[in-house]
Amino acid sequence: MKVTVFGVGYVGLVQAAVLADFGHDVVCVDVDSDKINDLKNGIIPIYEPGLTSIVERNYGEGRLGFTTDAVEGVRHAEIQFIAVGTPPDEDGAADLKYVLAVASTIATHMTSKKIIVDKSTVPVGTADKVLSQVSEVLATRGEAIEHYVVSNPEFLKEGAAVNDCMRPDRIIIGTASEYVKAQMRELYAPCNRNHDRMIFMDVRSAELTKYAANCMLATKISFMNEISRLAEYLGADIENVRRGIGSDERIGYHFIYAGCGYGGSCFPKDVQALVHTANSINYDAQLLKSVEAVNYRQKEVLFDRISRYFAGDLSGKTIALWGLSFKPKTDDMREATSRVLMESLWEQGAKVRAYDPEAMEETQRIYGCREDLELVGTKESALQGADALVICTEWKAFWAPDFDQIKGALRQPVIFDGRNLYDPQQVERHGLAYYGIGRGRSVSA
Ligand code: UDX
Repeated sequence: MKVTVFGVGYVGLVQAAVLADFGHDVVCVDVDSDKINDLKNGIIPIYEPGLTSIVERNYGEGRLGFTTDAVEGVRHAEIQFIAVGTPPDEDGAADLKYVLAVASTIATHMTSKKIIVDKSTVPVGTADKVLSQVSEVLATRGEAIEHYVVSNPEFLKEGAAVNDCMRPDRIIIGTASEYVKAQMRELYAPCNRNHDRMIFMDVRSAELTKYAANCMLATKISFMNEISRLAEYLGADIENVRRGIGSDERIGYHFIYAGCGYGGSCFPKDVQALVHTANSINYDAQLLKSVEAVNYRQKEVLFDRISRYFAGDLSGKTIALWGLSFKPKTDDMREATSRVLMESLWEQGAKVRAYDPEAMEETQRIYGCREDLELVGTKESALQGADALVICTEWKAFWAPDFDQIKGALRQPVIFDGRNLYDPQQVERHGLAYYGIGRGRSVSA
């Protein structure tokens, strides 16, 4: 089948590459000519395991094209994906200007039937807005061309996006049209060979499903983070509590890890956007607001601990930081806890010496060159002469460090572990003080 994808951001590029890999003939359109040129030259704008090779292969074999020419994109295919950004505006609402601009572009240049697929995460009611936008433009053109708008939200995890897209848990299709259902079934046929993953529903339910999924996951994390605070004050260990409750199948082991807060481009934005949608219909979404508030507070936990450990005096201290990205296997720094921590440390006159396997370039881009930030090439060199070690991201490279070496390198033998990577007793046996999240004794820091 022929497919056009508007937007070569994270979602659009992964989706386009995977559809091309399924054998479809895919054209990607973006207004950013630098990005398009880079892609033609094999330069992928984001770090995502497996993405470079699948883009290169499909581009090389002619199934994946890149262009800034929207007219070419509209003509190319009946199926038109909208995968452009929906950045939050000042009050947390998803800004639809890019989505609606693509809708107008498609309507302006279409000369034959189109199925417009909303792939971006958009508030409930957006498909209706896209539909009216397209109908309006067609009306001013004096044309009546058959068109449909379908909601098909993505559920990609950064760091596992290619795999999630190739082998999705579910493919949500929001449409009332039998014709569109059949086309979507054909498009996604390679995902359904062993097991039917298509779930059809009305368009508004599909739009809400995406928010409900992310908000449920964010709720699980904030719930555990709240219990972790109680554990600290009550002298319990959240890691035992996690194993204890995860064994109940109704709760499950996934996504119940307490830590220094969730980040990324989805959870913070989507929780805020749903709160905003609730406000717009005069519904006070209390649980969702608390999920956000708990996470906000959780991002300050590491700094509070460090500050208390040094009796409130951080000036002239150097803090070694392992992990900058919001989670492992990505260079994404959006809403990363490391940022909240570094900014608080700098405000108190401390220096940060940081190492991350992928996100150092991005950190440099965000903060530029500053005296109180040193980015170093290995995790070991971050430690030399530092006053304490802090872990913000659970990269595998940090799972089994040489604790004796850490002790030898640090001026103050102490680890603040924002991801509960280590066994406190084991660390303490090496003569290091250890503070995890929700691990009883940590509270005395
Ligand atoms: C998320 C959803 O998982 C995905 O389905 C959706 O499409 C987009 O949003 P992503 O943002 O890539 O994906 O990251 P995810 O792996 O879900 O992690 C989000 C944050 O939660 C990270 O900061 C992670 O460290 C944190 N987290 C996750 C916890 O603190 N505890 C957990 O138990 C799990």
